[in-house]
Amino acid sequence: MGQADTDDADTGHGATGSPGRRYADKAVVLTGAASGIGRATALRLSAEGARLLVVDRDADGLADTLRQVEECSDPHTPRPVPVVADVAEEQAVRSAVAAAAERFGRIDLLVNVAGALGVTPLADLGVDEWRRLFDVNALGTMLFCREALPHLIAAKGVVVNTASTAATHAHPLMTAYAASKGAVLAFTLSLAAEVAPHGVRAVAVSPGGIRTPMSRSTRFPEGADASYYRRIVPLTGSLGAPEEVAGTIAFAGSADAGFMNGVELRVDGGSHN
Ligand SMILES: NC(=O)c1ccc[n+]([C@@H]2O[C@H](COP(=O)([O-])OP(=O)(O)OC[C@H]3O[C@@H](n4cnc5c(N)ncnc54)[C@H](O)[C@@H]3O)[C@@H](O)[C@H]2O)c1
Repeated sequence: MGQADTDDADTGHGATGSPGRRYADKAVVLTGAASGIGRATALRLSAEGARLLVVDRDADGLADTLRQVEECSDPHTPRPVPVVADVAEEQAVRSAVAAAAERFGRIDLLVNVAGALGVTPLADLGVDEWRRLFDVNALGTMLFCREALPHLIAAKGVVVNTASTAATHAHPLMTAYAASKGAVLAFTLSLAAEVAPHGVRAVAVSPGGIRTPMSRSTRFPEGADASYYRRIVPLTGSLGAPEEVAGTIAFAGSADAGFMNGVELRVDGGSHN
């Protein structure tokens, strides 16, 4: 996970090459598209020709993403459909998925990126904070997968869920976040086995420290020892770029990864090896 006091100077990585058109005529539902990794994924998938329904609770951020997609896309790329919604609200998720199915007639790819982080020593961790992180990260992911599943089965589609290196590697002061991302990873691996007979794939993408508003706004409690986090970002000497995660998501959801199922793809510059 990102951290406020780690060197996050732009070292130039982030350029992921010119995309092809792997998503021409594909319909995609993407959450968390108002910021960071989700926005970069919206830009990448649009550039590859996807028809997108983008979901976030941040209406202004979503509008910015749409503007950026329009600035980058060729005139034939369809404008993404924005839906302002809380991913942890069951009815809102149902409506968003139904809107995508109605608009596009199919759903080929579901990408769950929306997420929330909390940094709290266990002694101060309240039930509300635990539930907040599990609601957004784990419940939101489950709801979108469940609602999209019939459409994904019909299209022999793909699910890409965003976990975190916190799912498998110690992230002190982030126990609730780590547990919620562990839930996302475990959910995804079991889902992959459950839906494989229907021709659907499910893959987890686990970013390490990525330069986004989430990592930039991370604050450690007064007096907390953040040296662990400086140790786990040593290889590149910086945080990763959201475009590098978006490129991995675009690969995982495409036919290029057609024989890849029930795996975790770590995007952390090798910092957790
Ligand atoms: N940035 C990192 O270092 C890092 C590392 C590992 C994993 N991740 C994961 O990657 C994903 C994207 O993170 P990011 O760094 O781009 O963060 P970000 O804060 O820039 O973006 C997260 C997006 O999720 C949206 N969101 C949050 N709660 C929501 C809710 N209840 N309903 C709808 N939308 C909601 C936010 O509005 C925001 O647009 C998250 O799941 C995060 O946990 C990030």
